[in-house]
Amino acid sequence: MAPMEPGHAQIDLLAARALLEWQMELGADEPILDAPLNRYDVAAEAPKPAADAAPVVPLEAEAVDPVAVARAAAEAAGDLETLAEVQSAYDHCELKKGARNFVFADGNPSARVLILGEAPGRDEDLEGRPFVGRAGQLLDRMFAAIGLARTAHHANEALYITNVMPWRPPQNRDPEPAEIAMMLPFVMRHIELVNPDMIVLMGNTSCAAALGKRGILRLRGNWSEAFGKPAMPMTHPAYLLRNPAAKREAWADLLEIKARLGELS
Ligand code: URA
Repeated sequence: MAPMEPGHAQIDLLAARALLEWQMELGADEPILDAPLNRYDVAAEAPKPAADAAPVVPLEAEAVDPVAVARAAAEAAGDLETLAEVQSAYDHCELKKGARNFVFADGNPSARVLILGEAPGRDEDLEGRPFVGRAGQLLDRMFAAIGLARTAHHANEALYITNVMPWRPPQNRDPEPAEIAMMLPFVMRHIELVNPDMIVLMGNTSCAAALGKRGILRLRGNWSEAFGKPAMPMTHPAYLLRNPAAKREAWADLLEIKARLGELS
């Protein structure tokens, strides 16, 4: 072995080989050159393919439109059971990966009133049913005050409850517009199959999905139309838990719903 320059530790052949292998394991794939090399120049000078060479066909990523996939699956579902099956099997929404459970609906499908909530929270994710946490308990009390319950057997007294999102978003963040767009075909088909007399839009995400707008404090209390049905936007019970003073307006909205039910029957 040639003598090393002063200051360099002498290493034997085996140690040198081990070092080299170690560097290769770390990803090194060529030794340092004597002079610096500008890799950008190398790329620019890369040989052009010969004129008669076969054209290079770029590999195209398979184009999947998640909304179109959702629409096809939802429209093909002939009943609620099938809709739940195809929606829970839908794999294009990232929220599914972080959720414990798929939360489809609760209540009586023959109800005249359908409540469209936002997304499951922690309790709903654990239990697989919508509105079972504190906000859900308040929701039950609010509707009980106008004679409606998710456990009622008769359509006139019953509630049907579902959400825009069937999977809990991480840290209960708001669902993103793309996530809402993917779920919209399922929501539309869900409402078509239940065919309620009216819809209650609980909070901003529901208004964004059903009306294409947010601003629940402006929208609440005013009848609108969503999915071909009369729709009443209301402040979410989670908001009412944080802002008890807003319960007065929520009560007015509930009375509005009761009156409209009377008119429609
Ligand atoms: N909030 C919602 O909007 N939906 C639920 O299911 C629970 C809390």
